[in-house]
Amino acid sequence: SHRIMLGPLVAAIDQGTSSTRFLVFNSKTAELLSHHQVEIKQSFPKEGWVEEDPKEILQSVYECMERTCEKLTQLNIDISNIKAIGVTNQRETTLVWDKETGEPLYNAIVWLDLRTQSTVERLINKTPGRNKNHLKHKTGLPISTYFSAVKLRWLMDNVEQVHEAVVSHRAMFGTVDSWLIWCLTGGKSGGVHCTDVTNASRTMLFNIHTMDWDPELCKYFGIPMEILPRVRSSSEIYGLMKICSSRKSGALSGIPISGCLGDQSAALVGQMCFQDGQAKNTYGTGCFLLRNTGAKPVMSDHGLLTTVAYKLGRDKPACYALEGSVAIAGAVVRWLQDNLGIIGSSEELEKLAASVGTSYGCYFVPAFSGLYAPYWEPSARGIICGLTQFTNKSHLAFSALEAVCFQTREILDAMNQDSGIPLTQLQVDGGMTSNRLLMQLQADILCIPVVKPSMPETTALGAAMAAGAAEGVSVWSLSPEDLSEVTSEKFEPQINPEESEFRYARWKKAVEKSMNWET
Ligand code: G3P
Repeated sequence: SHRIMLGPLVAAIDQGTSSTRFLVFNSKTAELLSHHQVEIKQSFPKEGWVEEDPKEILQSVYECMERTCEKLTQLNIDISNIKAIGVTNQRETTLVWDKETGEPLYNAIVWLDLRTQSTVERLINKTPGRNKNHLKHKTGLPISTYFSAVKLRWLMDNVEQVHEAVVSHRAMFGTVDSWLIWCLTGGKSGGVHCTDVTNASRTMLFNIHTMDWDPELCKYFGIPMEILPRVRSSSEIYGLMKICSSRKSGALSGIPISGCLGDQSAALVGQMCFQDGQAKNTYGTGCFLLRNTGAKPVMSDHGLLTTVAYKLGRDKPACYALEGSVAIAGAVVRWLQDNLGIIGSSEELEKLAASVGTSYGCYFVPAFSGLYAPYWEPSARGIICGLTQFTNKSHLAFSALEAVCFQTREILDAMNQDSGIPLTQLQVDGGMTSNRLLMQLQADILCIPVVKPSMPETTALGAAMAAGAAEGVSVWSLSPEDLSEVTSEKFEPQINPEESEFRYARWKKAVEKSMNWET
């Protein structure tokens, strides 16, 4: 029946840490019509380093667009129905390129990367009272390896080509959104160098009150402001797609790119969390719980970040969010697969864990990149503890899933303490939510219901909605009636709270052991 309903289409590029997707939605129903996904290679050149190839990232976007267009054509859907394209992306990941040649000057340094740990420790030691929250009043963020400024500083100090390009005024800095928008709007021949407020708020160079780059922060990190992209709202026309007609995705040329949001912000929009107090948790490479705090930035007393949630139009007000960031969620699955080889796929993990249904007292803290919220401890390292002769790989698999749930519990507790109004259920999305055992475990460990929408691509939907809005195409009218039509699945807690608390207390003990590993 949707053929009859087929209205204008909106699309989104979703460039995540582990994969890239291009998705096309029917704006009338928010139905996903066609999509394609390509995995992204990560390289680990040294211990703690995580890099990706900017050209491979761009190429994966082209490939996803091409394949999605082919699928649309097979469905007899005219590509010219696509009215707007949104971009959503892994945040903080840092790139520098040469605006004259269009060439990246180094690999993208991925958000998880730890190479700046010593720089971060030095910066914190220099602050009055060794306070990692020294810049929080402006940025909403603790000084950490996570954010872009320290990665950019590292590139300027350690990569000769970057240094040269900066002094000769040829360097452009950007997070993945900036790199993609610049390339897709023409690159070295007139590409648009911009970012949106949500991505900018993750660099540590952005003042979340003035909503602009902050000269003092730039000076603090020694970053010349001329290399920064222009900051725009999350929903406005940045430029038109300019794709060489020899490419199969050439049919997308001329379509406005009119939405841009960091992936966690996009998921908040896609989950329709527009009211103060609404929250969602997304299980991707990492795991990110964001709670909308409305027009005012709320500073956390419990280790959460204050971040820009969205600004859906040049003249629209900015909305803020409290965020709990967990570095390792889906990444632990990939680690069990690639590094230990105890599973062949993520589906196998669920089976393996379900075969025992308990960790048998084994606790796994995957602090591969230090610990993020609520600890912000870069020197933490992963540990597996509580092993006995009896422990086998199924228990380890179970403990890995439990780790994702415990980390979310820590964030939820912090969030409830900060806001004073406990969440009564948790809206979830992201790749790992297809793991039903994980969802049940999450409800058990949080002691509140977990609710999962039937359309899992909420991140892309949010970016497509933002893009459509700028072009006068409202994706779905956002009325409460429509919202009630969203079909979702609910997981109710099934274990008693005492059991849950007992396991959580053990987890906390394991976390303590993982901290200060190097000191
Ligand atoms: O802050 C990093 C985050 O944006 C990455 O998201 O989905 O790739 O884990 P994801």
